[in-house]
Amino acid sequence: MEQSWPVYKADASSSSYSPLTQINRDNVDQLQLVWRFDPEDAPAGVRYGKYECNPIVIGGVIYATSARRRVYAVDARTGTKIWGFDPFDGERGGGMCRGVTYWSGQNEARILFTADHFLYALDAKTGAIIQSFGANGKVDLNQDLGVDPDSVWVKPTTPGIIYKDMIILGSEVSESYDAAPGHIRAYSVKTGAMAWIFHTIPQPGEFGYETWPPDAWNYTGGANNWAGMALDEERGIVYAPLGSPTYDFYGANRKGENLFGNSLVALDAGTGKLVWHFQTVHHDLWDYDLPAPPNLVTVEKDGKKIDAVALTSKTAFLYLFDRQTGEPIYPIEEKAVPPATIEGETAWPTQPFPSHPAPFSRQGLSEDLLTDVSTEARDSVLKRFKKMRSDGLFAPADPQGTVMLPGTRGGAEWGGSAYDPNSGLLFINGNESPEIITLHQAGLEPKGRFTFNQFGNRYYKTYCVTCHGENLEGDISSPSLQDLGARLAKAETLDKIKKGAGRMPGFNLMTENEEKAIMAFLFDEGKEEIVPRSVDPKTSQGYQNVTAYSYFLDHEGYPAIKQPWGTLNAYNCLTGNYEWQVPLGNYPEKQKVADIHTGAENWGGPIVTAGGLVFIAATKDEKFRAFDKSSGKMLWETDLPGGGYATPTTYMVKGRQYLIIAVTGTNENPTGTIAAFALPKG
Ligand code: HEC
Repeated sequence: MEQSWPVYKADASSSSYSPLTQINRDNVDQLQLVWRFDPEDAPAGVRYGKYECNPIVIGGVIYATSARRRVYAVDARTGTKIWGFDPFDGERGGGMCRGVTYWSGQNEARILFTADHFLYALDAKTGAIIQSFGANGKVDLNQDLGVDPDSVWVKPTTPGIIYKDMIILGSEVSESYDAAPGHIRAYSVKTGAMAWIFHTIPQPGEFGYETWPPDAWNYTGGANNWAGMALDEERGIVYAPLGSPTYDFYGANRKGENLFGNSLVALDAGTGKLVWHFQTVHHDLWDYDLPAPPNLVTVEKDGKKIDAVALTSKTAFLYLFDRQTGEPIYPIEEKAVPPATIEGETAWPTQPFPSHPAPFSRQGLSEDLLTDVSTEARDSVLKRFKKMRSDGLFAPADPQGTVMLPGTRGGAEWGGSAYDPNSGLLFINGNESPEIITLHQAGLEPKGRFTFNQFGNRYYKTYCVTCHGENLEGDISSPSLQDLGARLAKAETLDKIKKGAGRMPGFNLMTENEEKAIMAFLFDEGKEEIVPRSVDPKTSQGYQNVTAYSYFLDHEGYPAIKQPWGTLNAYNCLTGNYEWQVPLGNYPEKQKVADIHTGAENWGGPIVTAGGLVFIAATKDEKFRAFDKSSGKMLWETDLPGGGYATPTTYMVKGRQYLIIAVTGTNENPTGTIAAFALPKG
């Protein structure tokens, strides 16, 4: 028997569900590692960020990207490479990528995928580039957005979705002032010609245009679909969750509600025309991107079954809408929220709050929620907590620091949820980790005498340290900047800093002195020359988030909040209630009760099987686990050779069920690996 996993997250509706039952509650504890696929394609000295690919499997072949962003076809029984394709022609490559899209026509099959700002089409059999697609096998995604293609970058991270010989594609764009608009586009899979475009930042005459200043469509960007979509093939409607408009944390130049920022848009999949929309955050000031593809579910309400779409958010709300009309299944109320405190900003006075279901993670940090792992831990966070603003989900960033809970990491994240059509259960993993956002006015140079190196050090400590570390060593999501000179040219480095990439915001508000200083610091130069006193007494052009994505941690580096620090939740769409919630991930040294896990930060989604199991890795403790889908009881746990920050895949070839997951690289194995598990033969 064969069972494929032909689409990212299992199918076009992004269910992450498999009908397989060979691996089940009774035997899951016998799972063993059966092979690994190690691409070993990273250039010397390079270790890529999280390896987020959810491989697809068709006809006994796995199609996956590596963390370096090569594409591979791999024998699904043995892990043996069939072919590889390098879009970067030997260059460094990389960039977040969650996988590829498969399309088959009458006599051929294609693999579509994106690298840098290009959409490629390959022959699924051979990996050869299809020359007749786009221009010599690729389409330039910087084109046709109505902006100068050389001034922007558009780099999709989640694979596109197929509808009738078209691939519908979202994008990742810069998080900074220079971001491209996140328009959604469909391309012919045969020719690469653009079939339609939906303006996520409406243009004059289009619905939603009045929710911005008149010219904003020319100079703002973002509102992009980076996390993937769900397609209702029968209805011909595609549901796309969108991110924040830019700049993420300061919106003085985009007064208004800013449609379709942070909205779920339902589009006619054939034409790109808007069917309905719902905006989850008006005038976003928190980077509350909608971070996960929605799920197509069936809910039961007042004795009636309704086809619905379930949407999770970083704020930990679970929204449910009628799939056809967009009508909320449960009332959503507009409630007053706090105003902004900084110059130029006008926060939107109200935000929508679903009345039901309850959020799946805690919202808004308060004193009684602060960590209780030890008196020292509590003291270390209480002092800082009292100095900051903590005023619920929608308190705008403040120069003093604003506490976010959940923050930019969720709540939910890009792994999304898994939906079991048999039981009506929706499985959602949540992060419970407070963060701090602090805004500084950009371009205000210090007074006093500094060398360029010292000034650069200071700039680094203000803008870069939260991600790249005290000693440039990097962290789980950000690369080390030590010995940068050995890897990156100066021009390339400066370009990266100004434009940003992935989670890294672009720093394009730097003054000339700041630019020279940060480069001097990173390349260990400029120790003699003194920075001239404020060359031009700058009038600030805007604000930048100086603690960008900063964790609020105790003195030992654990979250500043009481456990659990990450959860797995089962919501029953038929009863409207949660069936269970369990901590996900563990720090054994901090367990308060021997058999209750602490929970941990988690990245990557769950999958659910007819065998009664929910599989999920995702956690920082680098484990892979299986839970009983009815009870939440953990039935299996194993160590991975690195972080499983990806959504697993399951399939059957020649009667054997396999479970595979992409594992992020380590110092020993910088490329990462795909690890495959199965039951012993017998
Ligand atoms: C929010 C976290 C964050 C902040 C703040 C941040 N970076 Fe980054 N940085 C990243 C991430 C993530 C990458 C990897 C981006 C990619 O290529 O996907 C990166 C990449 C880089 C690179 C390229 C490194 C390489 O080996 O390719 C440089 C250089 C860099 N950052 C410098 C800086 C400087 C200088 C600052 C402060 C002005 C800064 N970053 C602020 C997260 C951050």
